[in-house]
Amino acid sequence: MSGFYKNKRVFITGHTGFKGAWLAAALLDTGAQIKGYALAPNTEPSLYNLLGLARKMESVIADIRDGERLAKEIASFRPDIILHLAAQPLVRLSYAEPVLTYSTNVMGTLNVFEAARRTADVRAVVNITSDKCYENRETSQPYKETDPMGGFDPYSSSKGMSELLTASYRNCYFNPKDYGRAHQVGLASCRAGNVIGGGDYALDRIAPDCARAISQNKEIVLRNPKATRPWQHVLEPLFGYLLVAQKLYGGPQAAQGWNFGPEPEDIRTVEDLAKKFTAVWGRGNYILQPDAKLHEAKLLHLDITKAKTQLGWRPVYDFDKAVAATAQWYKNFYAGEDICQFTLAQIGEYKKVYSKAIPI
Ligand SMILES: NC(=O)c1ccc[n+]([C@@H]2O[C@H](COP(=O)([O-])OP(=O)(O)OC[C@H]3O[C@@H](n4cnc5c(N)ncnc54)[C@H](O)[C@@H]3O)[C@@H](O)[C@H]2O)c1
Repeated sequence: MSGFYKNKRVFITGHTGFKGAWLAAALLDTGAQIKGYALAPNTEPSLYNLLGLARKMESVIADIRDGERLAKEIASFRPDIILHLAAQPLVRLSYAEPVLTYSTNVMGTLNVFEAARRTADVRAVVNITSDKCYENRETSQPYKETDPMGGFDPYSSSKGMSELLTASYRNCYFNPKDYGRAHQVGLASCRAGNVIGGGDYALDRIAPDCARAISQNKEIVLRNPKATRPWQHVLEPLFGYLLVAQKLYGGPQAAQGWNFGPEPEDIRTVEDLAKKFTAVWGRGNYILQPDAKLHEAKLLHLDITKAKTQLGWRPVYDFDKAVAATAQWYKNFYAGEDICQFTLAQIGEYKKVYSKAIPI
């Protein structure tokens, strides 16, 4: 994968966020030329600033809802690949700010697709949605890529809508049947589960909540302790997205929806995560305080058979390893260690495990 990305021009939306900053760091490591487009980081600290990404890549701080500006930035960069991650990604905030959530997640995505349509060199577009895009049946049956889209809360339904938009653009403008004649773009969407890893400082996410509480000698409050989630280390889906983009660059076969999640035995409860996190850190307590008022999905499982059989991708960190890598990152951060160095070391370690498990 490193060989493929060297000197490729990759445009990332959402590079100032948690996943986007890890993605930018991993791509810089391959020698890719990258340009990011996002709002300024909305947390202090932020992984983007800790990694000094503003100095290491071309970075545009602007709004995805400004279609004209976005189109101009994409056109001037002439990317080979677009990875679209920018979004309002928080379920609780989406209840308070539905208009912001839909306009960013749906119209923002539309702006990305329109800009891609008008830029000659683009070969691959990957839209990052979520496991929450599916109509949630609240059963233990995992979702397949062909299951219906839905979403109860504004965030989830905005991601379902973003998926429908992707399908429409793939039918109307980037149809694999017309590839090589009418266009040369492969358009895919990727649905990952709950991602953990160092450098996430968002509110209402369990790993940063654990780290903040432990570092302040406070109790960790678990609102939804029995909810099971498809936890994954952040690098797992990111390598899946990079693999999809690489395949799309070579042709339209991967122009579909893809699930990226953990193995079934690693789908665990919020409480399991808190337990493991505190054990790795060596201290910390949690209390259970279920919030009955807010509807949040309790059961969400992804079927990853398709990514495994058709892309050759698979998770390489189990639950324990993913939580340990996450807790260790925050522990080092709060201990004042060189976190940029440690992040790059974690990327290096992941690459080693990945290339052993998934030889290319
Ligand atoms: N973190 C997870 O567990 C998880 C799980 C499934 C899917 N996702 C998806 O992955 C993507 C990245 O999530 P994250 O966890 O890194 O979130 P994040 O909040 O850390 O980052 C979001 C990024 O989007 C940018 N953004 C938000 N609104 C914008 C706007 N109006 N204009 C331009 N940029 C804007 C932010 O500046 C930031 O760079 C999102 O699409 C999210 O829905 C995340």
